[in-house]
Amino acid sequence: ISSGSEEKEKTLAMIKPDGLLGNYTERIKEVIVDYGFSILREITAQLDQDSASSFYAEHSSRSFFPSLIKYMTRCLRQKIVAFVCVFQAFRQSFDSGPVLVMVLEKEYAIADWRTLIGPTDACKAKITHPNRLFTYKLLFLKPLLFIAFIRAMCGQDSEKNCVHGSDSLLSAQREISFFFEDVSSAEDPMKGELVKL
Ligand code: PPS
Repeated sequence: ISSGSEEKEKTLAMIKPDGLLGNYTERIKEVIVDYGFSILREITAQLDQDSASSFYAEHSSRSFFPSLIKYMTRCLRQKIVAFVCVFQAFRQSFDSGPVLVMVLEKEYAIADWRTLIGPTDACKAKITHPNRLFTYKLLFLKPLLFIAFIRAMCGQDSEKNCVHGSDSLLSAQREISFFFEDVSSAEDPMKGELVKL
C-alpha cells in the first residue's frame, strides 16, 4: 500500500536571472501554489561557467549554447557593468545573476509544470496565450485566471524566458540531484542560502 505522497511526482523548477532581476519571484511562487504544487526545497544559486555548462550539457552542441551559458552565469564584465550602471533598465539589459531553484511536487508535476510555463520562446507563449484578449481587459480580476503560461507573463524570448522546467522523469531526477542532496526529509536545510556552484 503506498501513501499519497509516494504517488506524487517531483520536478525541478528554476526562476532564471531575468525572472529574479525582474522581481517576478513572488508572483511566480503564488502561481505555483495556486496550481497545486508544493515547494519542497528552494535555494538561490549563483552558477559559474562549469556548473552551467554541466547543467545544460545536453545542449552543448547547439549554436545558442555559449550565449545561454553567458546568460546563466555572471562574469566579471557583467559585475562591472552592473556596478557602474545607474539606470535599472540599462543594468537589466546587460546583467545576469543568481537563479532560484525549487523542487516542486504534485501528481504529474513534470508535465504540469512544463504546461504551466509554456513554450521555450516567450514570444510564442504570448501569441499562443489562450486568454490573451482577456488579460488586458479584465485586469481587475484575479490575474491567475488569465495566466495560461508563466513565460507569457514575464519572459522575453528563447533565452530570457524566465523559468526552466525538467522535461522528463530522467531529467527531473538528474536536475534535482544536481542541486539538492536529499529531498525526502521534511525539513529544508538550505532554504534562504545562496549557494555558489
Ligand atoms: S527544450 O524543450 O527545453 O529542450 O527547449 P529548447 O528549445 O531545446 O531549449 C533548451 C534550453 O536552451 C535555451 N534556448 C536558448 N538560449 C539562448 N538562445 C537561444 N536562441 C535559445 N533557444 C533555446 C532555452 O531557454 C532552454 O533553456 P531551459 O532552461 O531548459 O528552459
